[in-house]
Amino acid sequence: MSNQLFSNTIAVVLAAGKGTRMKSDKPKVLHELLNTPMLGLSLNTFQSMGLLDIKIIAGHGYDVLAERYPEYERQMILQEKQLGTGHALQVAWPYLKSSPAKWVIVANGDTPLITSDQITQLLEGVNRHNAQVGLLSLTVKDPGGYGRVVKDEQGELQAVVEARDWDSNKYGAYSGEVNSGIYAFSKSALEELLFLLDNKNEQHEFYITQLISLAKSRDLKLFSSCAGASPELLGINSPAELVEQEEYLRLKIVKRLLNSGVIIRSSGQVRIGAEVSIEPGSEITGPCEIYGSSIISAGTRIDSHTYIQDSVLESCHILPFCHIQGSKVGFGATVGPYARLRPGTELKKRARAGNFVELKNSILGESSKANHLSYIGDASVGCNVNIGAGTITCNYDGIKKHKTQISDDVFIGSNTALVAPVNIGSNSMVGAGSTITADIPAQCLSVARARQKNLPGKNPLKKR
Ligand code: UD1
Ligand code: CA
Repeated sequence: MSNQLFSNTIAVVLAAGKGTRMKSDKPKVLHELLNTPMLGLSLNTFQSMGLLDIKIIAGHGYDVLAERYPEYERQMILQEKQLGTGHALQVAWPYLKSSPAKWVIVANGDTPLITSDQITQLLEGVNRHNAQVGLLSLTVKDPGGYGRVVKDEQGELQAVVEARDWDSNKYGAYSGEVNSGIYAFSKSALEELLFLLDNKNEQHEFYITQLISLAKSRDLKLFSSCAGASPELLGINSPAELVEQEEYLRLKIVKRLLNSGVIIRSSGQVRIGAEVSIEPGSEITGPCEIYGSSIISAGTRIDSHTYIQDSVLESCHILPFCHIQGSKVGFGATVGPYARLRPGTELKKRARAGNFVELKNSILGESSKANHLSYIGDASVGCNVNIGAGTITCNYDGIKKHKTQISDDVFIGSNTALVAPVNIGSNSMVGAGSTITADIPAQCLSVARARQKNLPGKNPLKKR
């Protein structure tokens, strides 16, 4: 049933607010949890559900949002003035109206840990009960700034009342239940109610929550589903709430991976992003951070103090204190300690990048080694190459970047400067301390340094 329901549903993510309580110029939904913006987390969840469409209401920082998520730009709707959550939905109405969707899920963009199961539960509940309006609630001890759920004696949903408008004389004692900011509406209910909203409240805003009492007053059928004390449904309004939710997510991910068969030592200090994939049979020691679209295969060992982003590691060993971004490390390769792989780097099988070695946009071929103190940039290095300590590719002439090509079985002596563009033929050897400015054919010994002179008795400090 779900699949058919989902393909009839359009999601609207409310993300136009300024997020005043974050005290930051950045749009609130671009603040990150484990390196993924709140908005990205919500979008991934909705994306995974196979809905008909997703719309994003953007306003404050619209351009920044569009720049960060260009793939969603066509789904963004501008809410020029942020006149409230109800107004945000009104802005979306022309798009909703023309869509074939029967159901509309609305979600606050600052509740990024909501799960697809929770959304499914709400949507299926509304559908099963033939309701027109559905609300997902949660229980919290102190309702704080949340909208409070008001039910009648039969437990039927009556209204959601915002904290500022709460009057215990009118509504009685707080029920323990608050609004999560996730709603399901039939499109026909929205058609009937959406433009009846007013802003007669403390904040003079158009509240989406007024749709509940409006539906009640017009005898539309309501449904509410309470998720209990679900931490996933807590909203993020301040830096303190952001890091609290981030810590919840961190623990959830670490526990999931431990249960799946990943060994995580000092797990309290391991931060793994929501989109990272790690196979059972890999080992990680904290402190360590792994983010973005990283994929870690079985058999990989990642030692402590390592930062990995958007990288693919295939059964390799990352020694402590490495920084790896946008790179691929092949089977049996070793990296570090203290190595830096910058975007576009690939270490083929059994290659080694040792201490204080930096690689950028370069391939280090099978079984090749750069073990100490090197910079390899814009280079393609073949198999079984030995790059001596202190070797540098001089890839930048101040205006352009140039390529260095090193063929198979080359030996580069220590402290060599390879001035690109330059090609080094297979089976050649470069003498230590050389500055190579011209191509070297295959099977040569190339030495490019001043010849040493020994002048007997000429040490100026030792004159007799
Ligand atoms: C809202 C709910 C409250 C609920 C809580 C759950 C209302 C009036 N109140 O309160 O009942 O318990 O969420 O976390 O809805 N936004 C827009 N355009 C606007 C205003 C807001 O897109 O004009 C977006 C914000 O970017 C945010 C979301 O709507 O993602 C919620 O707005 P926020 O101001 O955080 O509402 P709360 O006060 O938390
Ligand atoms: Ca909020």
